Amino acid sequence: MKIELTVNGELREADVWGGESLLFTLREQLELPGSKNACEQGECGSCSVLLDGTLVCSCLVLAAQADGHDVVTVEGVAEAGGLHRVQEAFLAAGAVQCGFCTPGLIVATAALLERTPEPSDYEIREALSGNLCRCTGYGKIFDAVRMAAAQ
Ligand code: FES
Ligand code: FES
Repeated sequence: MKIELTVNGELREADVWGGESLLFTLREQLELPGSKNACEQGECGSCSVLLDGTLVCSCLVLAAQADGHDVVTVEGVAEAGGLHRVQEAFLAAGAVQCGFCTPGLIVATAALLERTPEPSDYEIREALSGNLCRCTGYGKIFDAVRMAAAQ
């Protein structure tokens, strides 16, 4: 089936099968490999995107469900070609090791700061509880979120 959706501000079309995930469509059809496929079960958050402004695991959303909707991926969080302040903060804090979790964390953190510009530590933990990282131990990630919030 043909779908039409807005991805990172651009109208895109794709020909998808009924069971195709939004994650697959983004990565394999729309050439946006930033969203990562780590579990494909909604457990890790590495595939996090915004769907009409709501954080979702794109591995759990059917591409067909995104027809006519607005999607923002990690490739679209930054404005005007530069890095988003959250991306800058992750670099500055050394919050990236293998980087597999990073795109999802960037999208989730940007969404958090959009709705809660000065989050408490509890709110940061709550907001990122769906994003697993196997490398960093989370300390530097939380430092990066606090740094981004302070900017
Ligand atoms: S790949 Fe979607 S939650 Fe893990
Ligand atoms: S940096 Fe490797 S999983 Fe998070």
